[in-house]
Amino acid sequence: MENLLSIKDLYIEYKSNNGILGGTKIIHAVNGVNLDIKKGEILAVAGESGCGKSTLARAIIRLEQAKSGSISYNCENILSLDKKGLKAYRKNAQMVFQNPYSSLNPKMKIADTLKEPLQINTDLSDEEITEIIKEKIKKVGLSEDCLKLYPHEFSGGQRQRIAIARALVLEPEFILADEPVSALDVSIQAQIINLLKELKDDYNLTFMLITHDMSVIKYLADRVAIMYLGEIVEIGKTESIFKYPKHPYTKALLSAVPQLSGNKGERIILHGDLPSPAKLPTGCPFHTRCPKCFDKCPLHKPIDIKISNSHFVKCFLYE
Ligand SMILES: Nc1ncnc2c1ncn2[C@@H]1O[C@H](COP(=O)(O)OP(=O)(O)O)[C@@H](O)[C@H]1O
Ligand SMILES: [Mg+2]
Repeated sequence: MENLLSIKDLYIEYKSNNGILGGTKIIHAVNGVNLDIKKGEILAVAGESGCGKSTLARAIIRLEQAKSGSISYNCENILSLDKKGLKAYRKNAQMVFQNPYSSLNPKMKIADTLKEPLQINTDLSDEEITEIIKEKIKKVGLSEDCLKLYPHEFSGGQRQRIAIARALVLEPEFILADEPVSALDVSIQAQIINLLKELKDDYNLTFMLITHDMSVIKYLADRVAIMYLGEIVEIGKTESIFKYPKHPYTKALLSAVPQLSGNKGERIILHGDLPSPAKLPTGCPFHTRCPKCFDKCPLHKPIDIKISNSHFVKCFLYE
């Protein structure tokens, strides 16, 4: 399958105040990511909080500046787009955020929220715009009457439907959903997940889906990338990752949900917290918590080892 997006050697840093100690520290949020997203697939990105998933997502839609590396969309490096190019790109690539409470402007009627991207990015007439937003609000399972209301008049699940409708009005090819259901009641998460799947099929979308919910990944994703401390430590087809996880970190993540994975063994409890991305470990980023750590791990950085044509792992155990 052809790549829609291709990310090469991407590094993103934040500078942050060092509190009472004074000075600034550098947070290495994304640390050498190489990742392809194929046309028409759902690629899931998983990993614990703070590992750089949102930073990566924000860089892909150009809300975050990269320190180095490249992100190509249809073979064009989007990190060097001019204003006009960026506008065209933003029509094609849309984001759905985690929190539908803060991602909608509380002072705007739903109609205006949905119209805004069309008014900014197209030359369509008012009538045409109204037609599009009516179609999209119905597409996400809400009625036209909702257009007259304000965000506070809706439940969390309905608000996320509205945020999804807004992401759709420009008819994008690519949608990046950053934990789209984790702020919602468990009882309605499945409805939103099903909606995303339906939209993906109807509009032929490509998805990057950030989630820590392994059951969502198993249900929806074609491939999974496992992220740890700003790096992708394992990537493969969903079935392969669930049946034959290789990286000790992936195994630990999956051991928490034995009903989903081939891993019927004991729960692997990781010791210690995620190290600070301001003070990255030497060698393999996971060695400080790895139950299989051996002499080489703190000293050298593992590179991708090929398990199959589509399954790669950064771990010395498989050399
Ligand atoms: N604007 C920011 N300024 C400074 N540090 C940030 C900023 N945004 C994120 N970080 C830090 O970068 C790291 C990665 O964060 P993030 O990408 O949000 O992770 P995730 O989405 O996987 O939870 C974390 O250590 C986080 O605290
Ligand atoms: Mg996040």
